[in-house]
Amino acid sequence: MPFVNANFKDDLPNRVDIVDIINRRVPLKKAGKDYKACCPFHHEKTPSFSVSVEKQMYKCFGCGEGGGVINFVMKFDNLGLVEAIETIAGGSGISVVYDENVKPVDSRLTRYRDLMQRVGQFYIQQLKQSPAKDKAVNYAKNRGISGEIAKRFELGFAPPSSNLLSEFEQSDQNIADLKAMGLLSDDQYRSGQYYDFFKYRLMFPIHNAKGNIIAFGGRAFGKNTKAKYLNSPETPIFSKSKELYGLYQARKYSRSIDYILVVEGYMDVVALHQAGISQVVAALGTATTIEHLNILSRTTNIIIFCFDGDKAGKKAAWRALNTTLSVIKAGMIVKFLFLPDGEDPDTLVKKESSKVFVKRIDNAQPLSKFLFSHIKAKVDFDTIEGKTLFLEKVSTLLGKINYETYQQQLLEGLASEVNQSVEQVKSILERQDTFTQTNTFDIPQNYEELPTPDFYDANENYQALTPISTKGNNSLIDQMIGLLLNHPSMVDERIKLRVRKINDANVLQELANSALLQEDIALEDMIKPFPQKKQQLLDLYNKKKVLKNYDYKNEFLDALLKIEKKQEEKDALSITNEAEYTKSLQARKGKLKS
Ligand code: UTP
Ligand code: MN
Repeated sequence: MPFVNANFKDDLPNRVDIVDIINRRVPLKKAGKDYKACCPFHHEKTPSFSVSVEKQMYKCFGCGEGGGVINFVMKFDNLGLVEAIETIAGGSGISVVYDENVKPVDSRLTRYRDLMQRVGQFYIQQLKQSPAKDKAVNYAKNRGISGEIAKRFELGFAPPSSNLLSEFEQSDQNIADLKAMGLLSDDQYRSGQYYDFFKYRLMFPIHNAKGNIIAFGGRAFGKNTKAKYLNSPETPIFSKSKELYGLYQARKYSRSIDYILVVEGYMDVVALHQAGISQVVAALGTATTIEHLNILSRTTNIIIFCFDGDKAGKKAAWRALNTTLSVIKAGMIVKFLFLPDGEDPDTLVKKESSKVFVKRIDNAQPLSKFLFSHIKAKVDFDTIEGKTLFLEKVSTLLGKINYETYQQQLLEGLASEVNQSVEQVKSILERQDTFTQTNTFDIPQNYEELPTPDFYDANENYQALTPISTKGNNSLIDQMIGLLLNHPSMVDERIKLRVRKINDANVLQELANSALLQEDIALEDMIKPFPQKKQQLLDLYNKKKVLKNYDYKNEFLDALLKIEKKQEEKDALSITNEAEYTKSLQARKGKLKS
């Protein structure tokens, strides 16, 4: 559920006419300066309901009701605050500004958290008391989970028969809340019947950073069950792209968090705790997102991704690397740990001692090493052609990095890989800016959302699309597009003129035009003229959306300035080149003559 931006809400009454909006619902008659009608909120024969144009307020002198336009629509249309705002804005062609970072003052959320806590307690109690508990207890034991660790993770048991509803008061509110949390489903055949979403599973509660239960994962016992794990759906209190399993326990049970290991599964986290390694989290069945990285970088300096050494693991790691490049910043170190084929931390730490496993962690390879070796393996590095490809592909990736010191270091690393000077490599990076375009969009968010993460596959997928910016400066232009889509109102006449001078930036220019032409333009309306680039534009929009507390306009102007400078340099260069060319031409002509 979105939250309306407070400024937008405060400003909305200034942008609409209360008389117009009330008149659509209750026909008003002019009476002096104001308007009058019979009050819609109580029964009356002579009108005592009055609307003031000047104050943009309504008041009934009969029943005492009164307020502003939002209040009126809430009462008359019987809507909540957000819906009322949406109704008013919608009716006036204004698009609502939502605010995801604002602390919600929504009573549902507290109710949901309380409910999840109670459900968590119920599952824990079932692990102790259910007649069917042996199955779960034995399963946990067989997987090496001690009572202490089960308690630490608040593991529970969802019994085989439907039970939640009989545990809780069967009020409409409770039923609605349990459904909203994804814990109850409707019976498709006998409507009005509900059944538990989690049945006969070992339950892993997912906590937020404060330790509240916000979701569950449930492990089936048998091998024949369709889904090995079931997970809570996205709900108002749970978004899996923003949560990491085990973060709460990692903070609580680690003496220091000098590094964090990012593993794949619930059981990996639990098993590592069991082995005394508590600096570990798992992404919840999704690829690592930018949000995950932001959360982790606030907790630790060293993030170590741990993957299976097989092909799928390498693919997932490569995807994580791509996500990392765009967000890596000073003080953030990212490493990769590949386990032997077919092993996960859970199986491995049971085979070898935790000491050996910690050694593996210590020896994780730095991002740079993985980057170079991964691409090296894809080209025929012993040939000049292979080396060229290597150079081009690596420098394309380096172009994504915003952290300049690191980018410089990697450039030096790249130069020594191919035995060239940094200057030579740099000039390649600059010259093949054009190449960047095909790779600008493969920053993955989530397994379900985006095409395959593989370097080459990603290229193939995107080549079918026309790049948004056609030449040079791609990442800067993309960055600007993302910012502009989020904040069209920052475009003014001056900005529009400057944008117009950028070479090969048609899309950006058109977006700036429409932003300036139409105040409060909706995202859909900005994107509409580019049906074939819809997904690309949405990706750029989303990429900028997740950044919090952000000075959008400054970043936009910064990028603009950088492009302008580059363009100036290029122009200057081509002028000197031209001058030199003319000179040499004249010299040759001179030679011919003499
Ligand atoms: P894995 O298939 O690697 O399972 O899934 P695992 O963690 O090793 O599980 P165990 O050891 O067999 O119990 C890794 C993660 O992917 C998600 C879960 O978060 C899981 O921990 N997953 C996997 C699902 O959400 N659903 C599934 O059916 C499978
Ligand atoms: Mn496993």
